[in-house]
Amino acid sequence: MHRKPVLAANWKLNHTPNDARAFLQRFLAQVPKLNERTLVFFPSALTVGTVIEGLKDRPEIWVGVQNVHGEAQGAFTGENSVLMARDIGARVVLVGHSERRHVFGESDAHTTKKMALVAQARLTPMLCVGETLEEREAGRTGEVVERQLAAGLAGLEDGQVAGIMLAYEPVWAIGTGRTATPADASEIHGVLRRALVSRVGDKAAAGIPILYGGSVNRGNASQLLAAPDVDGLLVGGASLDADSWASIVRA
Ligand code: PGA
Repeated sequence: MHRKPVLAANWKLNHTPNDARAFLQRFLAQVPKLNERTLVFFPSALTVGTVIEGLKDRPEIWVGVQNVHGEAQGAFTGENSVLMARDIGARVVLVGHSERRHVFGESDAHTTKKMALVAQARLTPMLCVGETLEEREAGRTGEVVERQLAAGLAGLEDGQVAGIMLAYEPVWAIGTGRTATPADASEIHGVLRRALVSRVGDKAAAGIPILYGGSVNRGNASQLLAAPDVDGLLVGGASLDADSWASIVRA
């Protein structure tokens, strides 16, 4: 059961280990222990160890990885595995981020496999779903996110579904400066919540946080977080600057 707001920073391909040290020094000085929220950092795989080390006195802050390979080990040069993520101390894994789907060509079948692997490794998968502008304009948003959600959950037992986190990130809003309105976000979060209820029932579904992501910034974070059924935020650009991210997590 995880209904504290979840505020997650997706650093994408930004911040070297040195940058991360400087970031944490500045960020932690501004952010005391927040009992009412869960914070998560998703640094790049080469920076994740530094962030975990930098947070050793702040165990309430979670660290995750942005991606893992669909197999736990083997001849896959250049990839990172769920076993490595667990061993280094990561707790969460992003699965099906829009850039994985649209830049790197990941399909629903990949997300099915990765979600199952992450759950088996007893890490928390954070499944990302979201429609393109074309799909939205064709009135297909609900259908697209439900399909992506169903694929993400297809390889999980109900008990594992109860332990996931979900992020709704409309593709047209990511990195574009165009944000969904709080009402748009609530509407789609409602669609996702109903799909979760029909899969695992009211009680388990109520414990799954659904985050909104896509051009969240200091100016719109509080309003989005206050919208019904929005249980957290997944933030890219505005999480890169320590002052900006500190002000969002305190919002
Ligand atoms: P953005 O990215 O906040 O820069 O739009 C969000 C994300 O991709 O998770």
